Amino acid sequence: MKRVMIILLAVLGFCAAGFAQTIIPKPETVVMKTGKFTPNAETKIVLLAQADQLKSAGDLLAGYLKESLGLNLTVTRKPVANAIVLALATKDMGLGSEGYLLDITTGGVKITANSECGVVYGIQSLRQLADASKDIPCMSVRDKPRYGWRGFMLDESRHFFGAAEVYKLLDRMAFYKLNRFHWHLTDMPGWRIEIKKYPKLTSVGGKGCDSDKNAPVKFYTQAEIKKIIAYARIRGIVVVPEIDMPGHATAANRAYPEHSGGGSKRHPEFTFNPGKEATYEYLTDILTETAALFPSPWLHFGGDEAHYGNQQWPSLPEVQTRMKKLKYTKLVEIEHYFNRRMADVISSLGKTTIGWDEVTGSGVKPSQAIVMWWRHNKPKALDAALDKGFKVILCPRVPCYFDFVQHSSHKSGRRWKKKFGDLPKVYAFPEGLIDKYDGKKQAQIMGIQACLWTEKVKEVKRLEFMTFPRIAALAEAAWTQKSNKDYAEFQTRLRSHLKQYAKWGIYYFDPFAPPLVKEPVGP
Ligand code: ACM
Repeated sequence: MKRVMIILLAVLGFCAAGFAQTIIPKPETVVMKTGKFTPNAETKIVLLAQADQLKSAGDLLAGYLKESLGLNLTVTRKPVANAIVLALATKDMGLGSEGYLLDITTGGVKITANSECGVVYGIQSLRQLADASKDIPCMSVRDKPRYGWRGFMLDESRHFFGAAEVYKLLDRMAFYKLNRFHWHLTDMPGWRIEIKKYPKLTSVGGKGCDSDKNAPVKFYTQAEIKKIIAYARIRGIVVVPEIDMPGHATAANRAYPEHSGGGSKRHPEFTFNPGKEATYEYLTDILTETAALFPSPWLHFGGDEAHYGNQQWPSLPEVQTRMKKLKYTKLVEIEHYFNRRMADVISSLGKTTIGWDEVTGSGVKPSQAIVMWWRHNKPKALDAALDKGFKVILCPRVPCYFDFVQHSSHKSGRRWKKKFGDLPKVYAFPEGLIDKYDGKKQAQIMGIQACLWTEKVKEVKRLEFMTFPRIAALAEAAWTQKSNKDYAEFQTRLRSHLKQYAKWGIYYFDPFAPPLVKEPVGP
């Protein structure tokens, strides 16, 4: 009898161990155990931390379990049995600033981390397990990320989606432990952030979008932005604003033409005036309000593609005078001067600048700025940024621009010499690209980011179609160590996530049945 019991237990143990957990991104280690924990109406969420430290994390978990299991769980600081305990570690357990332990036993659950955001990541793993089944298999998860920067950028200048969609996107980023929301708020078609000192930026510059220059004024008030930042913070996400300059300034120049540096036939009124002192004061005011609004330690000032619209600079008296005074002979020299001055403003505001990779050679110091490498066709630009000692975020067009198609059958969306970012390519990133760099240079790479530009994304349906499920592959590429990545096995886990997308009503691309999914076309 005893032998039969042992064999039976061993078989049960094997079955439990054979359970394929469905967490994306894949954790560092998962040890499956026998049995399961089924939260019920009596289960409590217990906070083991000082005062209110984990209060919002507890409320977040309660909200998730209401959604996935229909339970209204109480949050308390009194230890009880049948509990999901959220705890801040009292001793070093090698989890770093974002890691967590998740222990699920038949009696309850415990999540331990060094920080609130570590606890929140443990909550996301538990949430995914609860979404998959109300009987949560017992297991012990130990987890921490590969990269500190796990970003997603949304362009709301080309098309404006509004707060409700941003909240949804932030929650889905949190689901995947993405932690940086890069918000592209200004560009050619529209200016989307309220700046109190210059109200015409939104009342005039907020009018129109990429597909309709007469579209009604759309922008975020500072009050709305504060709420979005708070919502993101609770989910472990920092919101990083981008105010693009000296190029991509068309919407701002409609509002305040006195600061325009002109443009080209193709890109009229594209730049700010890099010669005019009043323009530096105006941009300093804008950055000062932006810096005060966003707690983010980073402020993105663009810096890309100024040459699209610098053609009129030689004929502007202020530019001529300044170039003469500084003994500049080339337009790129005054562009670099502009970048240095604005990066110094951002430094004086107590923030670190982020710029697109064009800023690498402009004399902005590696101690004050981070470079986003986006020109995948210019690998030397990445080499240069690393050689100069910059910290770098990788978001090359292929495979990180999510306005590129994600399947060969797709008609609407970008390709670059037939190349695009399908699911396997996003998953495999940045392997291959970074292998040639030594350890010091690899350590300069802060992480990776997807960018959803929206010239061809007008509707939410298409936003979702371009984002899902690539966002899951991005998350695993950013979080999971290279040695632990396995595309075939990722696909198995992804299948259960597609069911969750369907429950949420997301219009996702199904990579397992591409011809069956109707592609929403862009404008
Ligand atoms: C960019 O795509 N112009 C950064």
